[in-house]
Amino acid sequence: MTASETRPLTATRSFPSDFLWGAATAAYQIEGAAREDGRTPSIWDTFSHTPGKVFEGHTGDVAVDHYHRFRDDVALMAELGLNAYRFSVSWSRVQPTGRGPAVQKGLDFYRSLVDELLAAGIEPALTLYHWDLPQELEDAGGWPERATAERFAEYAGIVADAVGDRVKRWTTLNEPWCSAFLGYGSGVHAPGRTDPVAALRAAHHLNLGHGLAVQALRASLPSDRQISVSLNLHEVRARGNSAEDLEAARRIDAVGNRVWLGPMLEGAYPEDLIADTRHLTDWSFVQPGDTATANQPLDFLAINYYAPTLVAHVAEGEEKPQDDGHGDSAHSPWPGADSVAFHRAPGERTAMGWPVDPTGLYDLLRRTADAYPGLPLVISENGAAYEDTVGDDGGVHDPERTAYVHAHLAEVHRAMADGIDVRGYFLWSLLDNFEWAYGYAKRFGMVRVDYDTLERTPKTSARWYSRVARSGELHA
Ligand code: NOJ
Repeated sequence: MTASETRPLTATRSFPSDFLWGAATAAYQIEGAAREDGRTPSIWDTFSHTPGKVFEGHTGDVAVDHYHRFRDDVALMAELGLNAYRFSVSWSRVQPTGRGPAVQKGLDFYRSLVDELLAAGIEPALTLYHWDLPQELEDAGGWPERATAERFAEYAGIVADAVGDRVKRWTTLNEPWCSAFLGYGSGVHAPGRTDPVAALRAAHHLNLGHGLAVQALRASLPSDRQISVSLNLHEVRARGNSAEDLEAARRIDAVGNRVWLGPMLEGAYPEDLIADTRHLTDWSFVQPGDTATANQPLDFLAINYYAPTLVAHVAEGEEKPQDDGHGDSAHSPWPGADSVAFHRAPGERTAMGWPVDPTGLYDLLRRTADAYPGLPLVISENGAAYEDTVGDDGGVHDPERTAYVHAHLAEVHRAMADGIDVRGYFLWSLLDNFEWAYGYAKRFGMVRVDYDTLERTPKTSARWYSRVARSGELHA
């Protein structure tokens, strides 16, 4: 029996006093002000304005108007007692064409946001890239082209020069798996291309761009700055114990996880990934020295976790369930994995249809800590969408969200009690917002946004999370 199994169920779980209790957002999902102060279109502006790409034609033009309301939003975070906030910078707001000089007004917005956060005692955690590539860079070839990685490093340097004196925590990319494989593979995300080779090329240039950006950040930031990347590592589970099902899990682990962990943390692509995709490409876009460049020392690894991924082998010609939770497309986002079927685990699900399984978070933390000892971990996203409704009392009572976050925090605590070095937790999301291809139809916020008035109302889950953040204690 392990220590955690013997712990009484009623125990209060205490977290360290310096634990980061945060919430996360991303620029395109909340800012709006899409054409203001020199901002030019990103691939998500183009994509969302293309009929048929986003639910009911929703766009981020206004989003939740955070660009104009950031002071109120910071005040709300302070009221909730958060001590950290993860946000992303819109590349086309600060460097409109993705190259050349910066726009001061764009940088001023982030300077003001950071100042406001610091004044409220909230630690800013800045993500450089949360999927909104300047459209001009996509027109020049996008992530499948090497030049985009070089542009990304220049942009990283611009942002570092602007707010590096005030921001301690930096993240290069958010979920590059989505940028590469949903953006260029299945096409359910911007820019909506459906070409597996372009997706693999994009993956490589995201790895390279990450490494070059870390170098640029180190060159201009004070030496005590903390640099990371946020990966949506897949907790891959085989449906059965057969050799074929285990092989299916290996393939998804390769193209879902080790495609990033290999270059970024070990300096090489996994050989099995190259073999799995050899029929598509010879990987000659990887130049000598690239994986060494991608392999920059990191101060922590940031992980986004929502649900495990359940896979099985499927024989040729057999009907293939394809529910990997990443949207419907005739094109797979998993190059080299045609023999893999994705299943829905039985049991409770969120409004996204994603299974609720907090043990997946523990297992993911365990596996990552074992593979990379000494590397601190941060949960940079975890949370759930539910069909929230406004009650007769005007409040939003969302016990499912509270239960989801509670159960996942309990697993984070179990991991820490077992010696895993987890430094913080960022709930996705602070506010209801633009949920990519689902538009505003899926609500992940702990704060409700009325999309007619843009009024913010903390849900019951926010009040609960606030008590946990303030006390550092999770009660059973
Ligand atoms: C991952 C992404 O980083 C974020 O942008 C998205 O809204 C959430 N997951 C929920 O799908």
